[in-house]
Amino acid sequence: MLLSAVCVGLFVLPVSAETIAEKVAKFNLTEDKLVELGEFFYNTEGANTCLKCHGKGGHGGDQAGAADLRHPRTWRSYQALGGDEAFGKDKEQFRTNMEAALHFLINKGAAIWNQRFSKSHKDIAYDWSKVKPKTNKYDSMMKGVTTGPMKKRAKELQKKLAEMGVKVKPKEARDIATVASFNYVKTFDDGSEKGGVFK
Ligand code: HEC
Repeated sequence: MLLSAVCVGLFVLPVSAETIAEKVAKFNLTEDKLVELGEFFYNTEGANTCLKCHGKGGHGGDQAGAADLRHPRTWRSYQALGGDEAFGKDKEQFRTNMEAALHFLINKGAAIWNQRFSKSHKDIAYDWSKVKPKTNKYDSMMKGVTTGPMKKRAKELQKKLAEMGVKVKPKEARDIATVASFNYVKTFDDGSEKGGVFK
């Protein structure tokens, strides 16, 4: 009896787990502060970083196939979530779903995203058949905060937060880095016909 209760508990837990956005909201960092921390985190010099792969301001990086971060309408997430039609229907809900998918992607990298995202987010309809050019998963080169250099930068972020009086654990620093770097990436949106999702 007890054993089955424990099993059910373990089974239910991951489904009802807090989102990354909810975890980070607890630290009460302002929007401006998050963008500032995101700028610090994104612009890390050296190999295997957001900056190296995606480039300064979100374009012109070294990694073949890395998304142009000025143009969110060209992203896989935008297309898979239903593109212009779905965005036009309910912008707020669309952005919330996109954010959940991209926080997960940036936080865990493409390899884990491909295995787990849709299983743990059944409420978000992510349809790869709508993505062009045709593919059914993220390129595993999208590593987000999971590389050695980004983890090292997250430790520096942890120190910065401590100086501000915000004490966090290493995992929490990576969650904050995830939300902060995504908020910073949103500022790259150039408002063109390929952008205009966050601006
Ligand atoms: C080792 C190279 C590499 C690193 C490091 C990297 N990316 Fe990426 N990123 C990619 C590639 C490649 C893609 C395209 C993936 C695809 O289309 O399947 C991508 C895609 C994206 C996308 C668009 C996702 C979509 O739905 O199409 C965003 C947003 C993004 N990256 C943000 C970031 C941020 C923020 C960081 C740093 C925290 C980062 N990336 C680090 C290579 C990288």
